[in-house]
Amino acid sequence: MKAIEIRNKYLKFFEEHGHKIIPSSPLIPENDPSVLFTTAGMQPLVPYLLGKKHPEGTRLTDYQKCLRTNDIDEVGDNRHLTYFEMLGNWSLGDYFKEESIAMSYEFLTKELEIPAEKISVTCFAGDEDCPRDTVTAECWKKAGIPEERIYYFGKDDNWWIAGETGPCGPDTEMFYDTGKPKCSEKCNPSCGCGKYVEIWNNVFMEYFKDKDGHYTKLKQHNVDTGLGLERMAMLLQGKQTPFEIEIFSPIMEKLEELSEVDDIASRRIVAEHLRASMMIILDGGIPSNVDRGYILRRLIRRMVRHLRKLQIDLNKLSELIDLNIDILKEMYPELEKNKDRIKNVILEEKDKFGKTLERGEREFNKIITKLQNEKQDTISGQDLFTLYETYGFPPEVTKDLATEKGYKIDAEKFNELFKEHQEKSRMGSEHKFKGGLAGNSEIETKYHTATHLLNAALKLIVNKDIHQKGSNITEERMRFDFNCDHKLTDEEKQKVEEQVNKWIQEGLDVKCEEMSKEDAIKSGAECMFIEKYPDIVTVYSIGNISKELCGGPHVKNTSELGIFKIKKEEASSAGVRRIKAILC
Ligand code: ALA
Repeated sequence: MKAIEIRNKYLKFFEEHGHKIIPSSPLIPENDPSVLFTTAGMQPLVPYLLGKKHPEGTRLTDYQKCLRTNDIDEVGDNRHLTYFEMLGNWSLGDYFKEESIAMSYEFLTKELEIPAEKISVTCFAGDEDCPRDTVTAECWKKAGIPEERIYYFGKDDNWWIAGETGPCGPDTEMFYDTGKPKCSEKCNPSCGCGKYVEIWNNVFMEYFKDKDGHYTKLKQHNVDTGLGLERMAMLLQGKQTPFEIEIFSPIMEKLEELSEVDDIASRRIVAEHLRASMMIILDGGIPSNVDRGYILRRLIRRMVRHLRKLQIDLNKLSELIDLNIDILKEMYPELEKNKDRIKNVILEEKDKFGKTLERGEREFNKIITKLQNEKQDTISGQDLFTLYETYGFPPEVTKDLATEKGYKIDAEKFNELFKEHQEKSRMGSEHKFKGGLAGNSEIETKYHTATHLLNAALKLIVNKDIHQKGSNITEERMRFDFNCDHKLTDEEKQKVEEQVNKWIQEGLDVKCEEMSKEDAIKSGAECMFIEKYPDIVTVYSIGNISKELCGGPHVKNTSELGIFKIKKEEASSAGVRRIKAILC
């Protein structure tokens, strides 16, 4: 059964069971800057799960475009996807466990014709927050699942919440038995050996978890379900990986035909990231160095890298996009209408990346010269990481170039640094899901440093007596107020911008020192309200161009900032001007 047929069957089935079909929300959540992408069908429905009345009633169903980015680096194996479609049905204070389970069982066995004996289920085992879910187990028995295929697990497996706080509850998961032999005596649906594949999750959402970790009962009991479409299509088509279903197989075949190198992981990465990028752009995403835009940039660049690895002419990308639109337009007709826009964004980013690679090569050559001078034969992990992180220069490319020139690489140290970095970004994205904008994300940190550079550039270009009068940073932009008796001319603005970018390109180190307030002032460090600071202060210096009292945080080197752009210069109050600027 094709994926679109499964989707249609699902919506029709739940419509026949009294559900209203609602449209998929965009992949980029509306009015919710705290979340990068829609990651589950319930996400746009949170207010209704918490009790707000939904205009379409209490039984809803939809297909939801989702993107999960935590596992980007896993894509290429036989199962991970970033973009996927989630089929869902909801009861907003309407039916509960029994009806939900009966419908799921009927859909799986009657509509999708999955043999009942291939289905196993799991229920919540119970703990201090919520009792063992024997009710759910009873409902399964009543529906037709024998006791030996009903398992109980704790919160790690059978409790669902999006992020840290919010509506949540025990869930019951349905698993498909692939028929593989058991991995051990204890083999069960949670062991991850591949015998059992999770196909559907029904969450009985009747709790709310607050930021202190306390659970309270919601006003209404809800049901929230999610069924991963690509995975279901894979199982029903008897395939081993989602890359073999009709959504991916034509593009996988085309990539095989075009490539000079046989590398299935690279082909999967190209196919997956191309689809994900197209879907993000369709919903308004553009590549940048910030949040959503950064994820999109990473996806496109990783795809381009793997096209290069496969030795596919990058001019073929346009053809690959056409092919992907042909494959996907039945499921997403709006792709066709937005074809030119999607193509332009991807091709432009590909060209930009080409330039980045050139810069990386220049930097690589500098490293080689340094090694020659020092009579060393190994590129250090730190240099590899800088090439990767700052110049977007992939280690596998570095390795190829190094081998050509007779040098080795310290891949082990690189992997260590890379893991650390990944951990930090993972924490960053989890932090985002919590809705926290107050903390200092990576981009806010960059804006802090850019503020110091702008301050220094204004002094240098416009007037040495300029001082900061205020500043405000969000994830999207920085705002900087300063004393100045005139509107900046276009020439001044341009020069200031160029100066900041010059410092960024020079890769100046940012140094942080603690000293007494007195010493700080003596050393010439700038500060806005001296009386507000404690006796021991932190001073941040950037190369030898800026020194300011500041609580931070800041980046380690200005090369991390990207490109600085002034978006607006305007009056703030008498004698005070305001600049809004972005990093991209
Ligand atoms: N919200 C649940 C999930 O994403 C259904 O698994």
